[in-house]
Amino acid sequence: MASGQGSNFEALVRACRGGPLNAEVVQLVVNNPVCGARQRAKRLGIPCQLHDHRDHSLRQDLDRQVAASFAASDVDLVVMAGWMRIVTPVLIAAYPGRLVNIHPSLLPSFRGLDAVGQALAAGVTLTGCTAHLVEEAVDAGPILVQAAVPVLRSDDHGSLAARIQAQEHRILPFAVALAALRLDQTGAATPAIQG
Ligand code: GRF
Repeated sequence: MASGQGSNFEALVRACRGGPLNAEVVQLVVNNPVCGARQRAKRLGIPCQLHDHRDHSLRQDLDRQVAASFAASDVDLVVMAGWMRIVTPVLIAAYPGRLVNIHPSLLPSFRGLDAVGQALAAGVTLTGCTAHLVEEAVDAGPILVQAAVPVLRSDDHGSLAARIQAQEHRILPFAVALAALRLDQTGAATPAIQG
């Protein structure tokens, strides 16, 4: 699931294709018709479905559509790779323990919008990114993987965001593998990191 540039989406695809992640990205869902993620899906040959949030007055209705399209593709695990909408129990309950989010801070610090700006405003010297399982509270839920990123005195929003994103691309495949390992105990999972 992506709303923006889709660099995390592409990192996951690359981790599966010749990378260490033994999984397949079977589908991308976007909520924005002109997002970069949609172009990347086209270039990478991944089926992409558009579910525009502006077509739904209720968040639950959007989530119902999204969940239905994943069910139709028989997906095991869902990744919110820069999904800029708050998800509801409709989607969370459809993928219990199978819904992973990536957030550009060391949670539980700097939840919500513009976590990079929040970190700069707070003057912290260390921030980072977190991949976690999704629960109802925004940017909460069991942490799977974190990476720390130092804040440099020379940093502005763009430079810090770029360094954090590079780390997001590294940890997201591992988070998918860890989520799969947790599911393994129920015999339901397939993806795994090799080597
Ligand atoms: C990422 O930094 C993610 O943490 C945040 O949105 C950004 C998405 O970037 N939630 P991209 O679309 O994957 O390039």
